[in-house]
Amino acid sequence: MGLTGTVIGLDLNPAMCLRSQANALLSGTQMQCREGRMEEIPLDDSSVDVVISNGVINLSFQKRKVIRELFRVLRPGGRFSFTDIVSAKQLSQSIVNDPKLWAS
Ligand SMILES: C[S@@+](CC[C@H](N)C(=O)[O-])C[C@H]1O[C@@H](n2cnc3c(N)ncnc32)[C@H](O)[C@@H]1O
Repeated sequence: MGLTGTVIGLDLNPAMCLRSQANALLSGTQMQCREGRMEEIPLDDSSVDVVISNGVINLSFQKRKVIRELFRVLRPGGRFSFTDIVSAKQLSQSIVNDPKLWAS
């Protein structure tokens, strides 16, 4: 983040936004959380240096759209780091057909 950087959070749930801002403050970091969806990130093109995501992308029904949005907001040469749940084998059709089992 450096001395002049800005940390922006994103969550569709306002309660989670408040919680993340409170936790950031505890660690001495100023963070502004935007309420919004990762499928339509409320940020300008090429406006972000680094995207970090933990346990969120797997929740989307529109993962390709999410990845397109990540690249849209990242500046050229920007980086992203994410951790998520990945299935190493093909899920059974009954699981694939039931979003409650693989998305929120
Ligand atoms: C498993 S939690 C992970 C939270 C946080 N990244 C962490 O590591 O503690 C998933 C979070 O993603 C948010 N979320 C789910 N779908 C979303 C979406 N489409 N756009 C933005 N946030 C979303 C939920 O509100 C929730 O706060």
